[in-house]
Amino acid sequence: MTKVKAYRVDAGIVPIKLISRTKRPTLDNKTYSIITFGCQMNKLDSEVAAGHLQAAGLTPAQTVESADLLLVNSCSVRAKAQDRATTTLHSLPQTKNATRSTRLVGIMGCVAQQMKEKLLDAPFNADFVIGARALPRLPEIIDRLLAGERKIVASESERPDCDYDPAVIHRTGKRSAYVAVSRGCSNLCTYCIVPYVRGPIWHRNPENIINEVSQLVQSGYLDLCLLGQNVNNYSHGRWHFTQLLERLAQTDRLRRLRFITTHPKDLSIETVKLMAHPPLVPYISMPLQSGSDRILRLMNRGYTRTEYLEKVAWLREHIDGSFISTDIMVGFPGESEADFEDTLEVVRLAKFDNIYSFIYSPRPFTKAASLKNEVPRDVVKQRFKRLLALERQNNIDSLHRFVGSTLEVLVDGASRKDRAVACGRCPQNVVVNLPHDSCEVGELVLATITTAGIHSLVGKVTRRLVPAAKS
Ligand code: SAH
Ligand code: SF4
Ligand code: F3S
Repeated sequence: MTKVKAYRVDAGIVPIKLISRTKRPTLDNKTYSIITFGCQMNKLDSEVAAGHLQAAGLTPAQTVESADLLLVNSCSVRAKAQDRATTTLHSLPQTKNATRSTRLVGIMGCVAQQMKEKLLDAPFNADFVIGARALPRLPEIIDRLLAGERKIVASESERPDCDYDPAVIHRTGKRSAYVAVSRGCSNLCTYCIVPYVRGPIWHRNPENIINEVSQLVQSGYLDLCLLGQNVNNYSHGRWHFTQLLERLAQTDRLRRLRFITTHPKDLSIETVKLMAHPPLVPYISMPLQSGSDRILRLMNRGYTRTEYLEKVAWLREHIDGSFISTDIMVGFPGESEADFEDTLEVVRLAKFDNIYSFIYSPRPFTKAASLKNEVPRDVVKQRFKRLLALERQNNIDSLHRFVGSTLEVLVDGASRKDRAVACGRCPQNVVVNLPHDSCEVGELVLATITTAGIHSLVGKVTRRLVPAAKS
């Protein structure tokens, strides 16, 4: 008997009991569970995978423990993310589920693309591996599994476009949905594994995007988020990102339109001006990575700190109540104290509303992985701490301004910590906690903000705008 911790889709870390190793599984019972790590694109891919599994007759398992087929959707952006996926995987294979049958375990996503057949062997023992670029092949792989085949690896697809039929996607959100506008990335930031695992950028046909958005809105979705690793690099024939946004913003009854992730080098003033008007929301995720021009050059980011700050100024000037979120990396090879000070200075000048900070992690295939001048671990940790302190203060200052104001909140679930609390998001994408007996999941309400925390707000419902049931 082994005890493991597993991670469940969108549910944080959930300890599950384990269950002895047993003989090879069959798919007789046909229930599935998907454990998702990583970015929003992975969340969307899990919804695609769920749709394919359901089309093959499998049904969602009540719990991870009872699933006959477990699929780990993996992220490889940092070594820790990779470890979490592989640890989950090698804790789970070839176990019995809680009821009676044996189970199959597979891995998909970016670690699957990176490690391929290595994941079939001990200690991971996956029954099947589907790389991020091979997801369109999932139906074929399910058929082979049902026919009894095991140890399958798919890492490329004849349809590299990944332009899924939206009908196949099993959406988990009631009112919010993701729509991919592109897949992959050709930016080759020197620290980043994404272009190697996801492949070069591929832009989806605008007609398919427009149709998908319109169908989602017709079926009651109010809040759509366009996805791309570099979403604003979108380009297809005469269509560029701003034109696409402009066209999508005309969709009747669409309440909120967001997009992630924005690359600073590709952000145009036209996009910023569009963002000032609903259904576009005043939220942007625009990673800085570093405030030092020297490090930005070494990272191959394609902008300077002055250019970055100029774009921040556009956002502040044109968008009422703009909310700017950023990503910052500490400890890129060769980062000096002066480089780090430059980063802190940009943080102070930009007055970010939210910061995600990361410690640099060398990744396979990347240019930066071969750089020799590593920053000593203790120096990195100390810088990281200093950045976190600044980040905390920024977050507090940013959220405090909402106290006393009235925000539109789309309720999307219950709090993980306290089931008596309902959670939603305001147009600035900040979590707003509300008393659960004052609203329902899927409802759009107006709330007056009473308290601000570091990462979330607390409010009271003052008006119910759109009911939970889809119209
Ligand atoms: N496509 C997005 C995000 C990519 S990954 C973009 O271009 O910004 C999300 C974040 O992870 C990045 O913004 C970066 O801050 C961080 N990240 C990427 N590679 C990393 C690495 N090797 N080590 C540490 N953090 C990394
Ligand atoms: Fe990675 Fe850079 Fe592409 Fe973002 S833009 S996915 S950081 S290579
Ligand atoms: Fe991770 Fe792959 Fe997304 S590496 S961040 S899951 S594109």
